Amino acid sequence: MKHTDIYEVLNKQDLVGSETVVCGWVRTFRDSAQVAFLELSDGTSFPRLQVVIDKNALSVDPECTKLGASVAVRGEVVKAFKGEGNELNAKEISLLGKCPPEYPIQKKRTTLEFLRTIPHLRLRTNTFAAVFRVRSVAAQAIHRFFHERRYYYMNTPLITASDCEGAGEMFRVTTQPWNAACKTEEEYYKNDFFGVKAGLSVSGQLEGEIAATAVGKIYTFGPSFRAENSNTTRHLAEFWHVEPEIAFAELPDVIEVAEELLKYLINAVLTECPDEIKFFDSFVEKGLIEKLTHVATSDFAVCEYTKAIEILEKENSRFEFPVKWGSDLQSEHEKFLTEQVFQRPVFVTNYPKEIKSFYMKQNPDGKTVAATDLLVPGIGEIIGGSEREADYEKLLSAMKERNMDLSAYKQYLDLRVFGSVPHGGFGLGFERFVMYVTGMENIRDVILLPRWTKNIM
Ligand code: 4AD
Ligand code: MG
Repeated sequence: MKHTDIYEVLNKQDLVGSETVVCGWVRTFRDSAQVAFLELSDGTSFPRLQVVIDKNALSVDPECTKLGASVAVRGEVVKAFKGEGNELNAKEISLLGKCPPEYPIQKKRTTLEFLRTIPHLRLRTNTFAAVFRVRSVAAQAIHRFFHERRYYYMNTPLITASDCEGAGEMFRVTTQPWNAACKTEEEYYKNDFFGVKAGLSVSGQLEGEIAATAVGKIYTFGPSFRAENSNTTRHLAEFWHVEPEIAFAELPDVIEVAEELLKYLINAVLTECPDEIKFFDSFVEKGLIEKLTHVATSDFAVCEYTKAIEILEKENSRFEFPVKWGSDLQSEHEKFLTEQVFQRPVFVTNYPKEIKSFYMKQNPDGKTVAATDLLVPGIGEIIGGSEREADYEKLLSAMKERNMDLSAYKQYLDLRVFGSVPHGGFGLGFERFVMYVTGMENIRDVILLPRWTKNIM
C-alpha cells in the first residue's frame, strides 16, 4: 500500500502542505461538536499522529473510530495546532479492519500480569511498543559495536552434542518415540537422528572458541536454551545470548570489553530512543535516565570473590542463604553487593573453581579460576565470562576431575594442541540487558513470546 510512515509525517517539515496517506491503528478517539480527533500509531514512532476531522466536511464510519481498529487516512499534513511536529487534516478515512468491543486492550491502564495472558496483543500497548523499540535498537547497536571493532559475527549451532555449562539443563533433541526396550542410554540414542544424545545449545561459547582461535575476535548473537526449572523474574527457557570470544586476551581484557560494550549500548539506547526512555522514566522506573547516564559515564567496580565473601559474611544475618568462602552467590547476595555496597555495576572476579565451569583458566593459587560475573543494580548477574584454560594438560585434568566424556571434547582440546593462545570472552543475557535499560522488572515482559516452565503460549 502506498503510504507514509507516521514517523515521517510527524517530523518532516517539508511534508507540510502536501497530501499523503497514513495507515495505523486507532489509539484514541475524541469527539466534539465541530471537530473530532483520532490518534493513530503504526509502530514507526512512539508519539502518535493526531488526525483532525472537520465534521462539517467529512462524515466518518463509526467503525473507524473504535479503539484498535485499523484505518487508512488520506489528508493534508499541517503544523500541529499545539506542541511540536505535524498533524494530519483528514480528507478521507477508510476502514482496513474493524475492532469489536471485546478488544482486551482498553484505554485504562491494565496490569502487566494481565497482558502476559494475551502476549499476541500486548505489543499494542505503549509499554510493550516501547520495550520492543528499545530491544531492536539495542540489537542493532550490538552488531555495530562489534563490527566497528572488526569482530566476525559467527553463527554457532543450536543443536549440539556437548553441554557447555555442565550437566542437567539441556533440552533434548530427538526424533525417536519412547522405547522402553533399550537397555542403556547409548543403545537408545544409537537409533536416534544423530546417533548420539543431542540437545539445544545452552551457549555458543565452545564453538565460538573454534572461531576466535582462528580469526581472532568473534561474537555470536542468538538464542540459548536452558531447561533449568527456575521460575523467576530473571530466567527464561529460551533467551538471546551475546557472546564475544577474543584471542590474545586475559581476564582484564575481557572485563574491559564487557564494560565498553555495556556503556556503548546504553548510550545507543539513550540517543536513539529518547521518547521511549522518557516514558520508562515516568511510568516504569523513576530516575531511570539519571541511572543510565551515570552508569554510562562512570567506572564500574571490580571486586575479587574472596573480598566479596568477606563483605557478605558480615551481613549474613540478613540473608536467606548465609555465605562462606566456596558458596555460590545467590541473587540476594549479588543484589546486595551491587545495590548496597558498590551502588553501581561491579565485576566480581576469581571465583572458587568448584562453583564454575571446567573451561575456565585456573589461577596460580590452585583454588580459583579467572572468571567474572558483572552484577548490576535491580537485576544481579547480567554478564558471565572468563579467561579460558589455554593449557592442554590443565584443561584435561579439570575435565577428568568432573568425569566428563573426553571423546565428546576432542575438537575443543585440539584448540590447545595447535597454536594455543590466551583467550576469553563472556555472555551477555540480552533480555537482562533490555530489563536493565527499560526498568521492566520481569524478563517475561521483554521478549515477544516468553518460554518458561509449563508455559509455551
Ligand atoms: O553465566 P552464563 O551461564 O555463561 C555462559 O553461558 C558462558 N558460556 C558465557 C561465555 O563466557 N561466553 O550465561 C551468560 C549470561 C548470564 O549472565 C545471564 O545474563 C544470561 O546469560 N542468562 C540467562 N538469561 C535469561 N534466562 C536464563 N535462563 C539465563 N541463563 C543465563
Ligand atoms: Mg553465570
